Amino acid sequence: MAILDPAVDAFLLAHVPDRDDELKAMEAWARERRFPIVGPAVGALLEVLARSIGARRVLELGSGFGYSAAWWLRGMPPDGKVVLTDLDPDLVARGTAHLERLGHRGRFGYEVGEAIETLRRARGPFDVVYCDVDKEGYPDVVEPAVERLRPGGLLVTDNALWGGDVADPAVHDPATEAIRVYVERVSTHPLLRTTVLPLRDGVAVSVRLPDTGARATR
Ligand SMILES: C[S@@+](CC[C@H](N)C(=O)[O-])C[C@H]1O[C@@H](n2cnc3c(N)ncnc32)[C@H](O)[C@@H]1O
Repeated sequence: MAILDPAVDAFLLAHVPDRDDELKAMEAWARERRFPIVGPAVGALLEVLARSIGARRVLELGSGFGYSAAWWLRGMPPDGKVVLTDLDPDLVARGTAHLERLGHRGRFGYEVGEAIETLRRARGPFDVVYCDVDKEGYPDVVEPAVERLRPGGLLVTDNALWGGDVADPAVHDPATEAIRVYVERVSTHPLLRTTVLPLRDGVAVSVRLPDTGARATR
């Protein structure tokens, strides 16, 4: 099921901000290898979100070769830092090289291994926790992320509509079910206010509410 009409998709892609040749080279590599990256329309959203909240500390869960992190870094001040995570050391090496060529040396660090373990070990507060790991892992991210976000910080998750499968009652595979649980959890969490944007494959954006006094009213 297409989430957006292809003509609307094309219109959005025609209006993404200009970007470095290095970012375009990363897009080309992903296209050739069919490696799933957020792409420039969602990338621009990440930059806008980072600028909107003055993000300085971002934790990414499932960074691949650094494409989404490059967009977060575009939206952050020079002292902003991104912690990237991935299971695959080859992607970590590739991502490190790309981010250095983009001029981000000193502004990022990769943790190799299970992203959820890095999240659980991490000391917040973060301005952003960004989630793009294996979909079955999505529900487990919510509580530790909420605990490590500052009030006003964002939990941002890609593939929240999973090609539209989340809305198809005939689909019950583990990835789709896990994304449904995730969206339900962030939509009903008393310390989050959530919206799901139908951009590309769907992006869930949740803002962390203050601990006291301002619990979400339903
Ligand atoms: C969709 S790709 C990430 C793309 C990246 N966010 C971007 O848009 O440029 C997902 C990545 O998460 C990694 N990954 C999946 N499950 C993981 C886990 N449990 N812990 C750490 N990394 C994981 C995969 O190796 C893969 O590189």
